Amino acid sequence: MSDTNKSDSATDKPWAGRFTAPTDAFVEAFTASVGFDKRMYREDIAGSIAHATMLARVGVLTESERDTIINGLRDIELEIERGEFAWSTVLEDVHMNIEARLTDRIGITGKKLHTGRSRNDQVATDIRLYLRTQIAQINLTLQRLIDGLLDLAEAEAETIMPGFTHLQTAQPVTFGHHLLAWCEMLLRDQARLADCYKRVNVMPLGAAALAGTTYPIDRAFTAELLGFDSLAQNSLDAVSDRDFGIEFLAFAATLMMHLSRFSEELVLWSSAQFDFVDLGDSFCTGSSIMPQKKNPDVPELVRGKTGRIYGHLMSLLTLMKSQPLAYNKDNQEDKEPLFDAIDNLKGCLRLYADMMPQIEVRRDNMREAARSGFSTATDLADYLVRKNVPFRDAHEIVGKAVRFGVDNKKDLSEMSLAELRVFSEAIDEDVFEVLTLEGSVAARNHIGGTAPEQVRAAVKRARTRGLEIKAPDLSHLF
Ligand code: ARG
Repeated sequence: MSDTNKSDSATDKPWAGRFTAPTDAFVEAFTASVGFDKRMYREDIAGSIAHATMLARVGVLTESERDTIINGLRDIELEIERGEFAWSTVLEDVHMNIEARLTDRIGITGKKLHTGRSRNDQVATDIRLYLRTQIAQINLTLQRLIDGLLDLAEAEAETIMPGFTHLQTAQPVTFGHHLLAWCEMLLRDQARLADCYKRVNVMPLGAAALAGTTYPIDRAFTAELLGFDSLAQNSLDAVSDRDFGIEFLAFAATLMMHLSRFSEELVLWSSAQFDFVDLGDSFCTGSSIMPQKKNPDVPELVRGKTGRIYGHLMSLLTLMKSQPLAYNKDNQEDKEPLFDAIDNLKGCLRLYADMMPQIEVRRDNMREAARSGFSTATDLADYLVRKNVPFRDAHEIVGKAVRFGVDNKKDLSEMSLAELRVFSEAIDEDVFEVLTLEGSVAARNHIGGTAPEQVRAAVKRARTRGLEIKAPDLSHLF
């Protein structure tokens, strides 16, 4: 191999001591993670400030060393925020970049920061700190979407649409009720996120490389400074565990599956054939060739992005499945799937939350679709049952009436009493009350039913069901 393929800066590396030959330049680029892990700089610095504070408390650092280190780290944070920090691939990752810069700035004291610590527990700590902030932010947007859905559900509590099974008109439902079904999915997602947060907010620091450390560290103190709820209980597990990331991605995949289902419905409903909703011009795009087009790009793209989030979950599961304890370099591959999932999920949620208040509901079209689709056939069967006809016979009678309606292009409510009585003598004048759409939905008046009264009550209950997720603020460290 030619010398041009060697890194000049091999000896700059904090771990260069036992090496005689420099790293191959391509290996250096291939193994570096700074390109993507630098987004955790604030968490890395917060972790280091807490670690140095703890080291001074247990007497491993002097107070003046601690202060020099902390001031240096704070200056580096500002340097990064001003965009003046020179990130270097030679220094591999965010951790070594910041540590090397610290020594640049404050001299030999900077080299004491890494006492009793390893990048293995450091990186696990950084990801958890980063993820918990992201979880709190995601939850806020998720709640905004839930709130928007509840507003719309309340406004559309009486709006009648066809409910579907097999995408065939089944029974009339209220649009508010349909939207509340979406809300239930999101509320479960939120509960999953809140549960995942508990496993994220556990502190690995102190595990060091894998076995713990010989210094008299005070892990509980560091955890308190960093707002962790508890300590990882086994050092080997602490540095190798990425279950919390898998749980987060499982949450993300499930949420995306839900958004994708909403998208599918919005795409259908905004088509000329359904024409149930108008998504608002700012959430659609046109066609470069067909002047009449207004395409539902936002829901389509959200539906499309679902696949990549599933992929990230599969990546992380597969990444972990063959790793022996404890840390392995494989783990560096955990970040990009997580970060990409976070970025895309936030984007999708934001768009959905913004889009909700813009949706224009075409109530007349919804009603007409419900009216013309024999959606009250079950109500007629239930009516016959109340007149003592066994349900299976009632089913058969109504089936025949529908057949007649199809042949004569008449909905059940448009048939005369005489026409209906051909199918059953049990039918009387009062049948028309149950054949109306309003009567049909109002009759399903129990918890979980589609009656407008129930929709309003369910909206009210749902407004108090949201979960808060508060991530500790670390600004006291800066
Ligand atoms: N960049 C590494 C990662 O993302 C940090 C930990 C490196 N540890 C090690 N022993 N090489 O996982």
